[in-house]
Amino acid sequence: MSSCRSTLLVGFSLGFVFSLASAQASHDAASNAQLASPEIERKVDTLLKRMTFDEKIGQLVQYSATEVHPEKLSGPSTAALNVNPPGPGGVDSYALAQNGELGSMLNTVGQSLTNHFQHAAVDNTRLHIPLLFGADVIHGFRTIFPVPLATASSWDPDLITDLAHMAAVEARTAGVNWFYSPMVDIARDARWGRCTEGAGEDPYLGSAIARAYIRGYQGDSLSASDSVAASVKHFAAYGAAEAGREYNTTDMSELQLRQVYLPPYHAAVEAGAATVMSAFNSLNGVPASANPFLLQTILRDEWGFDGLVVSDYTAVMELTHHGIALDPAMATEKAITAGVDIDMMSHYYDADLPALVKAGRVPMAVVDEAVRRILRLKFALGLFDHPFADGVEVTGAVVEHRPLVRRAAEESFVLLQNKPAPEDPLLPLAKSTKRIALIGPLADDASDMVGAWSGANNFGDVRTLLATMAELAQQNSATCTYAKGTEISGTSNSGFGAAVAAAQNSDVAILALGESSDMTGEAASRAFLDLPGNQQQLLEAVVATGKPVVLLVFSGRPLVLDWAAQHVSAVMEVWYPGVEAGPAIADILFGDVAPSGKLTMSFPRAVGQEPLYYNQLPTGRPIQHADPAHPGYVEMKFVSRYLDAPNDALFPFGHGLSYSTFGYSSISLSTQSISSSSLMRDRKRQPIAATATVTNTGKRRATEIVQCYINIRGASTEQPVRNLKGFTRISLDPGQSQTVQFPLGFNELSFYNAKAQPVVEPADYTVYIGGSSTAINAAHFVTTP
Ligand code: BGC
Repeated sequence: MSSCRSTLLVGFSLGFVFSLASAQASHDAASNAQLASPEIERKVDTLLKRMTFDEKIGQLVQYSATEVHPEKLSGPSTAALNVNPPGPGGVDSYALAQNGELGSMLNTVGQSLTNHFQHAAVDNTRLHIPLLFGADVIHGFRTIFPVPLATASSWDPDLITDLAHMAAVEARTAGVNWFYSPMVDIARDARWGRCTEGAGEDPYLGSAIARAYIRGYQGDSLSASDSVAASVKHFAAYGAAEAGREYNTTDMSELQLRQVYLPPYHAAVEAGAATVMSAFNSLNGVPASANPFLLQTILRDEWGFDGLVVSDYTAVMELTHHGIALDPAMATEKAITAGVDIDMMSHYYDADLPALVKAGRVPMAVVDEAVRRILRLKFALGLFDHPFADGVEVTGAVVEHRPLVRRAAEESFVLLQNKPAPEDPLLPLAKSTKRIALIGPLADDASDMVGAWSGANNFGDVRTLLATMAELAQQNSATCTYAKGTEISGTSNSGFGAAVAAAQNSDVAILALGESSDMTGEAASRAFLDLPGNQQQLLEAVVATGKPVVLLVFSGRPLVLDWAAQHVSAVMEVWYPGVEAGPAIADILFGDVAPSGKLTMSFPRAVGQEPLYYNQLPTGRPIQHADPAHPGYVEMKFVSRYLDAPNDALFPFGHGLSYSTFGYSSISLSTQSISSSSLMRDRKRQPIAATATVTNTGKRRATEIVQCYINIRGASTEQPVRNLKGFTRISLDPGQSQTVQFPLGFNELSFYNAKAQPVVEPADYTVYIGGSSTAINAAHFVTTP
């Protein structure tokens, strides 16, 4: 069932070859081994038998900290993370906890606050069942690191594991034992604001990254004091919201669902994810939070998931808005029988389940099974033995964690363009640069450096670009003149004059432009993908000075940067870099570190191209390229194209420049032909290997992300023009070469047939190896019967 079990063999041109247990390989299918042990099952059985009906229902409900008793708190406390809309009201969660009628809490963090509620549950109730504390820890708890779309651009699963673990360590000291993360929704539409929370548009990369998060959060044992339970979300296909509009319908073939959208959730479940969150959206006409096909057939029957499913926030209540439930009772019945174990914030399960069970509309066995899954997790986390948070609580960004965040930010930046200005590429800047103009609303903006979902963060911990540049200027006896120019959504150009003057008196102008944090994340869809407000005019005014310009783009999604691509020498996407924003950007600008990030979402030329993704299906009337090595195509009518824009991305998936350059040898294959039936029989073998030698052809040490893509032709279903099937990061000195080998087997060569079954059929395969999804370095082989 694994779709991504591969091992990269990396060999150096010097001759020796070693086996690198890649991120893709190290996810041994320990599906929920952390949850399900005979000892845990015995304890669950015993406890379940002692519980009253009301106590059981209590386990199925989740609320935030609506009632807090400040007089009972000691030491640093943190109020509920303010990330959700108002809840149902009229709920006293403290009283519920005291009565044994609450199973878990959300976004309630801080040692004294969580312990306050935990004491209510553990000390006061008959069976002393502890609470779970779940929180939206999406990219760091106190030491905020770059947003997930940014860290995905590092293509570095080990880094992501380390970051995830760091967040777990910090959050456990504040009583949080459950993260509503990772979000693994495939996002192909940049209008959807939540693309910032995931890994982008590709299922293969998304799966590797999903596994990396689970490893980082859950470690080897959920009961370890530095582990938290993960919640894979939002199951399923939430990222396919029509028109990129938040909470909108998703509708797709089962083939597309299985081939594109499900793999990252599956990878996370296979890696042992303890919990799953059901999504807001409907899928093919059935809301995901009442969808037996998703929650039972796929999740439980096919994938063998035995963890708990929590609804998204008020998603059970929303079943009435979806129109499949006439009233709360009907919504409750549909959600719990479909497989939603915990009702987050709807206030429906506690209100309606008792009557539904009495009336026989919901079998008692369904309730028992849901409670069983919740207790299983509480035992696995060791909460019955250690219910309270203790030790030294982390209350701000941790100094020792900053270097990892800085590295993560550096690895996540994507150098989109670096043109000669006028001779050498503009970046890196010489350290001897004497007069720097720093312009734009994001240069001195701590709050927008952390991105969406940074609830427990303290903005004072952020090192802004202005602060860093001012320090560097002082050290180098240089000047850094700052002019804000405009606001993020500004309409007035009264600040343009100072910005233009700063640029005129500089050797280089660095512009920090982009979106505010709250323009991405939940409920942040955009119909236009330009620089907001009048930032584009500011950019044009500064470029008109004729000074060399570096554009730094802060955003949580791809933006339309077509004008900048034509007129600005250097453009770098820096996303939302987190607390080390300033130092990380400066490290790259001045060349202490060479950029290495590669895009995981395609950047469009125009918003009308959305949804835009590299792994599109072919069409019967494709455009024709005069020369496959170059963009631009033959002018023809009656082909699949826009009249007013090219088809391809401005900056495609996998694209990202370095301060060095890399050359690729032609690809060699270990065989030209392989039997499809043998691949179907032995799904673990990887009998074919594609190899290429990569050489650093530039002047400095740098890192390249080597990517392997596959195209399949002649099969029973049409297959994407290419699909990522392997990647690795390599660092090379100038002139150094390394041979990179991608082993291929069932997982890489299979696809879904019209019955939505994974198969390998006799077909023609093309393998591409290169530095982006537009690599043209190709080799061919066939699968025979
Ligand atoms: C979001 C989830 C989040 C939950 C709890 C919802 O609105 O969709 O991603 O985990 O709130 O905060």
